[in-house]
Amino acid sequence: MRQVDLTAEETSAIAGWSAESRRRAEEILSLYPEKRSAVMPLLYISMIENAYVTADGMRQVGVLTGLSPAQVQSVASFYTMYKREPVGKYLVGVCTSISCFLLGADDVLAAIEDESGVPDGETGSDGVLSVEHVECNGACGGAPVVLVNWEMIESVTPEKARELVKWLRDGQPEVANTEEMQQLFGGERSFDWGIKEPEGAILPVPAFGPYGSVGEDS
Ligand code: FES
Repeated sequence: MRQVDLTAEETSAIAGWSAESRRRAEEILSLYPEKRSAVMPLLYISMIENAYVTADGMRQVGVLTGLSPAQVQSVASFYTMYKREPVGKYLVGVCTSISCFLLGADDVLAAIEDESGVPDGETGSDGVLSVEHVECNGACGGAPVVLVNWEMIESVTPEKARELVKWLRDGQPEVANTEEMQQLFGGERSFDWGIKEPEGAILPVPAFGPYGSVGEDS
């Protein structure tokens, strides 16, 4: 891995980030010959730092990558997993692409909206739940698929979706874990996932391992 020494401007831009995020940003930048190629993982770190992708976060990433704010925003606004406004403690996504649609995803989404009182694309006033429909998650054999903070539950029925909402709202678990939620609220799985995630997701959103997307030792 090549050494990256941040300039004074770059160091100053992310002075407010945690030491771990600053270390990770340097590590990510060191992986790319062109700084601009690091825009996506850096946006992800900015989302961790600010809870969502803020104007400040995009400016900071712009300084690190040499991109203009408009260029950074064009990336952040293209990918729906970059959240550009606050979301609830639990981001509940329902896949409504073709396989899930054919197996009742619309009914699952309607059940979640009804039970939570939160319409698709919105966040409840108490900040506990956000609800959204999402595109195919590549688990079509386990349709319909529901995600909680990107942790997947397969073959969910409307009835189980209601139970899931109650479980999240009333219990507010510290960790949303695929294995546990699949057992409680899921049905048949598409296949046994190769990688078990005993630790589950890290809350709040963004929820998957915040620093683990690059490198094995991070
Ligand atoms: S269509 Fe829902 S996971 Fe593929």
